[in-house]
Amino acid sequence: MKGNRVAVAVLAVVVLVGGGAVPAQAGGGRDGTLRKAAPHGLRIGTAVAGGGHHLEQEYPDPFTADRPYRRVLAREFSSASPENQMKWEFIHPGRYEYRFGPADAIVRFARENGQAVRGHTLLWHSQNPAWLTEGTFSKAELRAILKDHIMTVAGRYRGKIHQWDVANEIFDDTGAYRQENIFIRELGPGIVADAFRWAHRADPHAQLFLNDYGVDWPGAKVDAYEALARQLLADGVPLHGFASQAHLSMRYPAPDQLRTVLQRFDDLGLHTAITELDVRMDLPEGGVPTPEQLATQATYYTTALDACLAVDGCNSFTIWGFTDKYSWVPHFFPAEGAATVMWDDFRRKPAYYALRDTLAAA
Ligand code: XIL
Repeated sequence: MKGNRVAVAVLAVVVLVGGGAVPAQAGGGRDGTLRKAAPHGLRIGTAVAGGGHHLEQEYPDPFTADRPYRRVLAREFSSASPENQMKWEFIHPGRYEYRFGPADAIVRFARENGQAVRGHTLLWHSQNPAWLTEGTFSKAELRAILKDHIMTVAGRYRGKIHQWDVANEIFDDTGAYRQENIFIRELGPGIVADAFRWAHRADPHAQLFLNDYGVDWPGAKVDAYEALARQLLADGVPLHGFASQAHLSMRYPAPDQLRTVLQRFDDLGLHTAITELDVRMDLPEGGVPTPEQLATQATYYTTALDACLAVDGCNSFTIWGFTDKYSWVPHFFPAEGAATVMWDDFRRKPAYYALRDTLAAA
């Protein structure tokens, strides 16, 4: 009886927020979780909060200090992505100095909780340490520095990483190689292939990915990735996947062509993934989203999930944090927020239920 009432309540919420479009399944009832609802073979992940913008906040390190946060992290997810803890500036703070402790702790936690780990990231233009970006190195030195970094970091977690974002955000919106990327600028775009080769040597089991934002719609950037993927595969480079970060904003339409984009890479024989999904919105005065905004947000989340579910080789679906408490959004997009699937106190938003019900129906 009680169970029925819960089911009816969940159904009512789903119908209310989804306008009936979302399948009305309870996804395991009140105790259901995202990871339990997911179909076999699809990892459901989140960013693990720490480093980056968190270092400038009042609160202590979320991953190590917030016990309720850790409980939800363990319960809801089958994959974990260090939000900053494996980035160059964090893990490689001095030329001859590595700091592995925080990343080690995440990898251990993931193992204890039956979670995969997405390594993020080995080659990127952003969040690099000053010793690297402000140093003077010959081309040969710079190449050796990148190779050592990849062999050391990917090597340390050999066999423990499901997928590595080897190359992150290497193209700009016009499809040109980003010149802010020190390695691409100094060594030329051929360095991307080398990064994949080194990562594969360091960890032959990890699936190696290209990862970017702004690839949710067809366009110059997606074309550039497809051309690069074809070239790398033709050259025998160990490339295994293409991922859309999917940082979405309700200022723009829902990503209803994402499925088509992912399919283009699936057709090349690659895995695909959604790696950093969040859906930000303009907050009304007072900062609390309206019920309509929350319902719309839920449809953006499920549009991205549906795209992944519809493509055979899409094997990992990750949201960029699960609680607004630690979201990067308000710190990087003024006036926007409420981008995750849970409120600050981990109460679930309509987007959470929409994801869970979509997973359960898949
Ligand atoms: C963000 C983190 O969430 C913040 O904590 C940090 O201050 C900046 O970086 N694309 C990426 C992620 O690949 O690494 C970024 O993460 C968000 C955009």
